[in-house]
Amino acid sequence: MFKLVLLGPPGAGKGTQAKKISEKYNLPHISTGDIFRRNIKEGTPLGMKAKEYMDKGELVPDELVIELVEDRLEQDDCKDGFLLDGFPRTVNQAEKLDEYLSSKGNSLDLVIDLEVDEDILLDRMIGRRVCKVCGANYHIKTMPPKKEGVCDVCGGEVIQRADDTEETVRNRFEVYQRQTAPLIEYYQEKNLLAKIEGTGGPDKVFESIVSALGV
Ligand code: AP5
Ligand code: MG
Repeated sequence: MFKLVLLGPPGAGKGTQAKKISEKYNLPHISTGDIFRRNIKEGTPLGMKAKEYMDKGELVPDELVIELVEDRLEQDDCKDGFLLDGFPRTVNQAEKLDEYLSSKGNSLDLVIDLEVDEDILLDRMIGRRVCKVCGANYHIKTMPPKKEGVCDVCGGEVIQRADDTEETVRNRFEVYQRQTAPLIEYYQEKNLLAKIEGTGGPDKVFESIVSALGV
């Protein structure tokens, strides 16, 4: 079982690939963005706090994120492996993750960095739609649901994410460059980074990930 991190700018395809990876390798998929969105939907105090930052495209403060991820990693299904999507996102988060794993005698196996040009990302994100109920992903041009506004999987309502407007997306890119991109070097120095070309369709990207994992 693998202990993996999926890194990459907003819209790089982390969620899309995470679904495929977690199915093939039987790994729990831990997306901090999804956890926050669930909390927002349920109106929890954490969700209310996170929403203030997410709606602006800013990062949620480290102290709220790190504890949340450590609690999740404590659960039984993460004992042998996991797939982190969207965490870590700052050098501080990465250091805390390393400390946590080494305190358990563990370490990461690989960090998969999805690389996609910014103009492609913008188009992907502004066109993205998601199911409000099951979270299935669509794109108005490349992957529309069979019936407009209705999820193919569960029949739920298909909507635009609150942080997928052009203005917020541009800020998310800036935040990514400033706070998250330094992780590329951080993991390169530890010899953990696998750079994966993130364009060319989800199946092709997945093939490259599988070959980087070597099984
Ligand atoms: P999060 O939910 O993690 O968002 P993100 O990193 O901005 O990335 P996205 O989920 O938007 O994109 P993705 O890479 O998953 O791409 P997807 O597969 O959907 O975080 C949201 C917010 O939460 C953050 O801004 C922050 O506020 C907060 N947050 C979360 N984690 C945090 C942390 N650790 N610390 C602090 N704050 C945190 O694909 C995008 C689109 O492209 C889809 O329409 C898809 O269908 C399409 N697509 C995917 N792959 C392909 C392909 N190969 N070819 C063509 N189209 C494709
Ligand atoms: Mg995602």
